[in-house]
Amino acid sequence: EPDPFWKSKKVLITAGPTREAIDPVRYFSNHSSGKMGYAIAEAAAAKGAKVELVSGPTNLEPPPGVVIKQVITAEEMYDSVTASFSEADVTIKSAAVADYRPVETYNQKRKKNDEQWNVELESTKDILKTLGTQKTTDQILVGFAAESENVAYFAKDKLERKNLDLIVANDISADGAGFNHDTNVITIFNKHGQEQAFPMASKKQTAEHILEAIKSYTEEQH
Ligand code: PMT
Repeated sequence: EPDPFWKSKKVLITAGPTREAIDPVRYFSNHSSGKMGYAIAEAAAAKGAKVELVSGPTNLEPPPGVVIKQVITAEEMYDSVTASFSEADVTIKSAAVADYRPVETYNQKRKKNDEQWNVELESTKDILKTLGTQKTTDQILVGFAAESENVAYFAKDKLERKNLDLIVANDISADGAGFNHDTNVITIFNKHGQEQAFPMASKKQTAEHILEAIKSYTEEQH
């Protein structure tokens, strides 16, 4: 239901994977379904926030009352997110953005032969890092970390390096956590060194935990 804190907020959320084309029929991507980001968008809109959802390709219906921007590649997600960022009070980056893309995209389908095929990859732009450098003191920036080992260490490292306020770490080696599941297992770390671990919960419930953590963090700042 509506919440006075969220009613006054513009929230920018990213969700889903990106796809990086090799040729007209092939691409690199990952297992993100978009469920986590869409659940956050739906929950924030239900609380009365103005929500913009920048989504990579998913099979999900956009939640009611949410402005949706559909993108395919990491570059398109970068352009869309950086264009909207200055307007957002809270930005939540749950998308699984491709870290690498093919250096070359073929215009025609590449023919099969008996040779090995080595595809050369180059880094995509780190959207979250860019936002961290542009962030004003009034803006809250929340990242995600999908890790399979040393979860707390890598999450805290990302929090600091990318100048985030909060980071949501999912241990993707845990049962019922991370990509494509309907549940998640998260720990939320904030800039002040506080951390909160949650037992396995539905992504809908996890979205509530994340929004609640953002609200208490913001209220403690002021
Ligand atoms: O979509 P679901 O199936 O529901 O799964 C949810 C999820 C597992 C994808 C989600 O909970 C999650 O963890 N998202 C982040 C996955 C990820 O790519 O983590 P990362 O550690 O590689 O990236 C760290 C952060 O940097 C993320 O906030 C990511 O959005 C951001 N990033 C990464 C690369 C890049 N080029 N630009 C970015 O902004």
